[in-house]
Amino acid sequence: MTDTHVDFAGIRLKHPIGVAPQAPFAPVTPRRLADHLLRYIDEGASFVNTTSIRPELQHPADKQPTGRFLRVDKGVGSKVSGAIVFTPAERDRIQHRLEWGLELIAILRKELPRGIPLIANVVHSRPDIETWVRHARTIEEAGADLIELNPSCPLDPPMQSDGEEAEEIVAEGLGDSPSALSQIVSAVAAAVEVPVGIKFSPESGYPRLVNAAYRYHKAGARYVACVNAPMSIAPPDIRRGGRGRYPGFEENPFAPIVGPWVRYLAYRNTAAIARFVPDLDIAAVGGIVEGEHVIEALMLGAKTVELSSGILLKGVPFIRQAVRFLESYMDEMGYQSLDQIRGLGLQYVKAPSAIDWGMGKLHASIDPHRCNGCGICANNLCFAIRMNGDRPDVDVSTCSACSLCIASCPSGAISLVKGRV
Ligand SMILES: Cc1cc2nc3c(=O)[nH]c(=O)nc-3n(C[C@H](O)[C@H](O)[C@H](O)COP(=O)(O)O)c2cc1C
Ligand code: SF4
Ligand code: SF4
Repeated sequence: MTDTHVDFAGIRLKHPIGVAPQAPFAPVTPRRLADHLLRYIDEGASFVNTTSIRPELQHPADKQPTGRFLRVDKGVGSKVSGAIVFTPAERDRIQHRLEWGLELIAILRKELPRGIPLIANVVHSRPDIETWVRHARTIEEAGADLIELNPSCPLDPPMQSDGEEAEEIVAEGLGDSPSALSQIVSAVAAAVEVPVGIKFSPESGYPRLVNAAYRYHKAGARYVACVNAPMSIAPPDIRRGGRGRYPGFEENPFAPIVGPWVRYLAYRNTAAIARFVPDLDIAAVGGIVEGEHVIEALMLGAKTVELSSGILLKGVPFIRQAVRFLESYMDEMGYQSLDQIRGLGLQYVKAPSAIDWGMGKLHASIDPHRCNGCGICANNLCFAIRMNGDRPDVDVSTCSACSLCIASCPSGAISLVKGRV
């Protein structure tokens, strides 16, 4: 019998899979969004994230919530193709102000099944501690089980700067300011009783993210959610004079990108934080679009996994598919609890100097039955393979076992074998 329970930031969950915060770009009522979030629970999610809730009381009446999605390119490391960039108009159009958020929490508090915790995504763009504390307290009183501080919203300054010149761009956003943030975390954690977490900015690169996580943990954060959507630019349309490709307009604004490739940033953060700040719980979020990705994130040290682009690209049933995948994977592999999986991959995350590279003991070998004679392996950065007609030959005395040929061969015809021949 497999046991999928997990203790996350002091809260017991029936399994580790939930849905990330996703603010819709539409004027929906709290009732309508609550119904949508309750559907996630019906599909098997083990916790609920609200969308971002801002401290200002009401949404500006003249700003209709809006945004635009665009699917780009082919998949990276996934059977699901494409990533999505989206440009959520302007920050003022993000609908979720305090009154709206409190109503949402009140509905969910009443209607969520027992044992399903409610995580409130508390967003603010400035480092004024007083507002953060007041906002977090209000949200706690409304009934949130956990408070997730979100200082990394890609809509907040300076991500969506109005500046025209480089010198007008502020050096760092609040999400990338560990000093300011650790003070905020510390003040909020002292002011509320529920566990406090923080949504990590993907713009905090490696390795400084490790130091940031360490400081948030010391300041009282119980968990980090890694990561928010990174800023990007969608590929311009090269057949239409470099215009943007969003449906309905020609511009190409700086915009957050989500989907399969973000997973590598989520994994980077997850593994780095799990290794160096092991007592800080981690919710992995970013590019999780296959059931296998849930296991990968757990193996790199995540305690929970939040689906977001997986739902955009595959629909809400992806939640149930991911939960079923986890259960059948555990059965198949003979794992009885998540403790047997979590962090398994971390023991292999090592500095290059600590790895036996097998130098002089391995070389590339080509299976002639699988090779289609395309010549790619002999025509990139390899100095050991030459084409002999349509047959690639490996000079093993030059082969350094770098594996570029394996990575680039479209037929899977190459492998590393032991010994020199
Ligand atoms: C439409 C949309 C709205 C989002 N709204 C929020 C939000 O309100 N709060 C938040 O913390 N993250 C928000 N995110 C970020 C996601 O929670 C997640 O961190 C990010 O999209 C990376 O995961 P993914 O690649 O699986 O989408 C939003 C993402 C999308 C696509
Ligand atoms: S890349 Fe692969 S298929 Fe192409 S020539 Fe080399 S071994 Fe053969
Ligand atoms: S392992 Fe590296 S050096 Fe050896 S054949 Fe392949 S690409 Fe060339």
